[in-house]
Formats: sequence, C-alpha cells, structure tokens
Amino acid sequence: MSLSLLVTGGAGYIGTHTLVELIAAGFRPVVFDNLSNSSRQSLDRVARITGVAVPFVEGDLRTPGAVAAVLAAWARAGDPIQAVLHLAGCKAVGESVADPLKYYDNNVIGTQHLLHAMRDHGIKRLVFSSSATVYGVPQHLPLREDHPMVPNNPYGRTKAMVEDMLADLCAADPEFGAVTLRYFNPIGAHASGLIGENPADTPNNLFPYITQVAVGRRAKLSVFGDDYDTVDGTGVRDYLHVTDLARGHVAAANYVHAQPGFTAINLGTGQGTSVLELIAAFESSTGVAIPWLGSPRRAGDVAASFADSTKAQALLGWSAERSVADMCRDGWHWQQGNPQGYDTVATPRAREDVAVAAI
Ligand code: WQD
Repeated sequence: MSLSLLVTGGAGYIGTHTLVELIAAGFRPVVFDNLSNSSRQSLDRVARITGVAVPFVEGDLRTPGAVAAVLAAWARAGDPIQAVLHLAGCKAVGESVADPLKYYDNNVIGTQHLLHAMRDHGIKRLVFSSSATVYGVPQHLPLREDHPMVPNNPYGRTKAMVEDMLADLCAADPEFGAVTLRYFNPIGAHASGLIGENPADTPNNLFPYITQVAVGRRAKLSVFGDDYDTVDGTGVRDYLHVTDLARGHVAAANYVHAQPGFTAINLGTGQGTSVLELIAAFESSTGVAIPWLGSPRRAGDVAASFADSTKAQALLGWSAERSVADMCRDGWHWQQGNPQGYDTVATPRAREDVAVAAI
C-alpha cells in the first residue's frame, strides 16, 4: 500500500524499527522528530537497511504550528499525508514521577497540537504508541484490553489521557479511526545489528542495562527485588522482539486505514519472563556472563505483567514470532557492534546472513 504516513518520533528505537517494516510493506514514511531521545544517524542506518532515505523534518510537537507546517508542505507537493503513526513522547516512568510537567507538555499537549493539525488537514487515521502501563497494578493476568485503566504514575496517566482523547474524537466523528497499541516490553534489535536501543543516559530498563554490562560499559546489573510472588521472586514481564512490535504497527496501519472508530490492542507475546530467566536466556544465547547483585525493589514496580494477545491476532492477524533467545541474540549483536550506540565511531558491518540494501 503506497500511502504517505507521518511517523512522529520516527528516529527513535521503536520508530526506526517501524520505518524498516513500513517501507518493506510499501508505505512511504515521513519522520518528524525533535531528536531529544534519538539520533540523526539512526535514519542513515535505516537507509542502509532499506535503500530508502526517509524524509526527515526536525521539529517539536510542543511548538504550535510545527507539525502543521509539515502536513501543509506534503499537501502542497501533491503527496498528502494519509495517516499518522504517533510514536513521539517521553517514556521513562521514574522521570515522569520527578518531572510530571515535562510529561504532560510532551505527551498530552504535544498530541493535542498534532490532532489539531490533523483536523485542519482532513487526516482521520492515527496509530498511537501506548503502553501496558495504562493498566496500573494488574487485577488479573493475563491483561486483556478491557482491564481497568488505573495507571499509577504520570507517564502512564499521559498515555491514558491521550487514549481518552482519541476515543472521544472517534465518538464525535464517525469517520475518525484510531488504533492505540499498548506495548508490553519491547527489547532486542533489527537482525542486521545496524539499528537498536540507544538510551541517552543510564538505562532505566532491564535489557539495555544487560547489554551494556555485557559490552563492558557497566560493571554489574542490580536485580530489583527477589521477594515477589513469582516463579523465582524476581519481576516477570512480557518481553517482545522490537521487530515483532514494528510489524504490529504495519498491521495496525493497514487495519485503521479500512476501519474507523477507536480500537485498543495489546502488543505482547502472552508469555512472562522473570529477570533471572532473562539473564539466563541472555547468557545461554550469547555466551556472555552477566554479573548481578540483589537490590531492593524499585518503587512503582509490579510483580508480574503479561498480555492477553488474542485481540491482536483476531483483528490484525498479528502475533509475535520471535523468541526470547532471538531477542537476546539480536540485541547483543547490535550492542556488540555499537558499544557506544550511534556514537560508536567505527560503522559496523551488517551481519552477513541478513539482507540489507546495497547503497
Ligand atoms: C523490567 C523488570 C524491574 C532494570 C517500563 C515502563 C513501560 C515501558 C517499558 C514505555 C522489572 C527489573 C529493571 C534494572 C531490574 N516503557 N529491572 N534491574 O518497568 O516493566 O516497564 O519500561 O512504554 O511503560 O513502565 O520495564 O525494563 O524497566 O523493568 O531488576 O536495572 O526488570 O524491576 O521487574 P518495566 P523495565
């Protein structure tokens, strides 16, 4: 389907992997990103993988008129944007507790500017990057989309607020279509090793911390809590390969093109993996030992969270295909070739057995 799509946050971790799959599916993405948590080099790597130099506009959704100018430019050029994949936003739970206004400005007000610009240009299709954090403390597992939304941190509340905005828009305008994708825990990297997770500071999340220990940037991993009511006392999460997540966005873009109304969909594997199980999987997939030490629980963490992913299969025909071992192998391949992320001086060679564009 050769539709032009605007991808906000398209230079980021999820964004770059989604660009690769969108291009493979025949879409023509345009990236709007303020590069606050991403790197321009990531788009050069997307070009190496796909052979496509994705148009990129540096800008901030919080700046009134900034994203509207992009939509106007593409309309003037006779190639109007047909839909938006809205991935731009702040995503660190701990930071949202310390600086909630930053999160409401970026994630809520920024989205409001985007929605106004879409309305002014007659764009009525949107895929939104949401999060399982909207569920708060699970009342039952696996988590289904009809689980109450009781987020317990500002980050989760911003995601729930945007979902409510989209639901209200769809209720007011029967021609408006919005799919909100509730991510569980995306990890890993594109099989080529050319793009991957690139945290700006000390990683908040488990997997990038593990790969930074593996590559020697961190001495050892702290395991937050060993007394949860789980298989081994450590936190259980639903990790999914970022390429599977990206393909979920393509399926959602196809779905929302044909289907107006508001639809919430979990993107997860339905499997839970504990912290110690992920460490063991990484060590056996890569042969690299991960030294760790037991630490107190992290405030705000839940014991276990994993998805009921039957709705994604039923509506999108999507289900996760890659294993935890695949996630570990691919994530390590990225980190090994890019010890300092995109700031690594030597440009890595793509893995021989993975086809990338010859440019
Ligand atoms: C996973 C497990 C930790 C780090 C968060 C957001 C969520 C989404 C993904 C945006 C937990 C443990 C972690 C470490 C550890 N982000 N851990 N040592 O908290 O499930 O989800 O990131 O959408 O919205 O809430 O992911 O990777 O931070 O933690 O032991 O150094 O690993 O306690 O059990 P989380 P995480």
